[in-house]
Amino acid sequence: MERLILRGPAPPLMGRLQVPGDKSITHRAILLGALADGTTAIRGYLAGEDCERTAAACRALGVDVEGWGSPLLRVHGKGLRGLREPEGVLDAGNSGTTLRLLSGVLAAQPFLTVLTGDASLTRRPMGRIIEPLRRMGASIWGRAGDRYPPLAIRGGALRGIRHESPVASAQVKSALLLAGLYADGPTTVVEPAPSRDHTERLLRGFGHPPETEGRAVTVRPARGLTPVAVEVPGDFSSAAFFLVAACLVPGSDLTIARVGINPTRTGILEVLEGMGARIEIRARRELCGEPVGDLVVRAGPLRGITVGGALIPRLLDEIPILAVAAAAAEGETEIRDAGELRVKESDRIASLAAELARLGVDVAERPDGLRIRGGRPLAGAPCGSRGDHRIAMALAVAALVARGETRVGDTACIGTSFPDFVPLLRRVAPAADPRVEAADRDA
Ligand code: S3P
Repeated sequence: MERLILRGPAPPLMGRLQVPGDKSITHRAILLGALADGTTAIRGYLAGEDCERTAAACRALGVDVEGWGSPLLRVHGKGLRGLREPEGVLDAGNSGTTLRLLSGVLAAQPFLTVLTGDASLTRRPMGRIIEPLRRMGASIWGRAGDRYPPLAIRGGALRGIRHESPVASAQVKSALLLAGLYADGPTTVVEPAPSRDHTERLLRGFGHPPETEGRAVTVRPARGLTPVAVEVPGDFSSAAFFLVAACLVPGSDLTIARVGINPTRTGILEVLEGMGARIEIRARRELCGEPVGDLVVRAGPLRGITVGGALIPRLLDEIPILAVAAAAAEGETEIRDAGELRVKESDRIASLAAELARLGVDVAERPDGLRIRGGRPLAGAPCGSRGDHRIAMALAVAALVARGETRVGDTACIGTSFPDFVPLLRRVAPAADPRVEAADRDA
């Protein structure tokens, strides 16, 4: 166990930084690369633990993945039908994306696979993929009445289906689109609100574009995928921690360069602007079919806001850091329609309510969200991540505006999505003296 210690309030955050590559795009580039006919070169990818799980799973399926940790990752694809039965259980660790997306591919493979994960992942709902994959013809089972991992899959011939998903989930949508590559006819996923569309964009890059019509996405059976060179933009969800930090720490003026600004991901920009934040996007361009820009943010006062509806899937991963912004804003913030937060790496509604309260935030838990009365001064205190990377980083940002020392417990999980978080924080906020300590020292 380790913990992160910081001292606030921090002086202004200044300068320019880059965040690591997008986690969602990295997973997908590796997976599609594994299924392509030839070598996919991936630059700017996220060398975090979650994506490493996807790479390791592909290796166990017989795919050569070369250069992990170096600037250039090379995935020597085996073609859609070239994977081989793994000798052991595939362990997705903390990564829901690894487990759900792989299940879609494995549902079509003529062999047996068993997939598992860590204590958090083995409590996350899998019925949402098991049910539609079974309708496609897959043999797939899960623990506790097909609800949770471990999953066992014996793949085979699949038929195309139309799936009306009750949740807006890119992981569900992507699992079915990947399975749909192998089906005997078109596979359509209809979502209640649009979720991130990186799978669709990358499939286009690999020469097999799905068709999108309103809330429906359709993929047709594929004969093969053509490898491409993928350049992964910076992860907007990682950038969001520094974005909010610079909004809150008075006098800050920070540029976060080369960040992915795919509109299915940037809902928090609209919310922060609605709260009064000053954020500019400069140097807009495109990288491998994804919009990219430099985010320039200056600190200023924020006011509370109400957030819900179709906006939620566009900022779901940013709600922990949005809650910190709400705590520092004047007035009340309501976050609604966000029940999905309860089945993330932790129950994020419960985690945020309990851990922010330790720092003095006036926060109330709702079944599907949070009510936060902002504007109370925050006080540094011991708090904990509950093993959830985004809770850990959100608390670290809160610590920058809290008076005194904050000790965030159990922060090793940050490495799943943002291994450089603490060094970057140290660079832009040296006076907060962020440092990681073994937790058993004076626990
Ligand atoms: C992801 C989709 C989202 C998100 C997760 C990454 C992806 O999950 O919360 O961090 O890469 O597809 P859901 O699709 O389950 O909402």
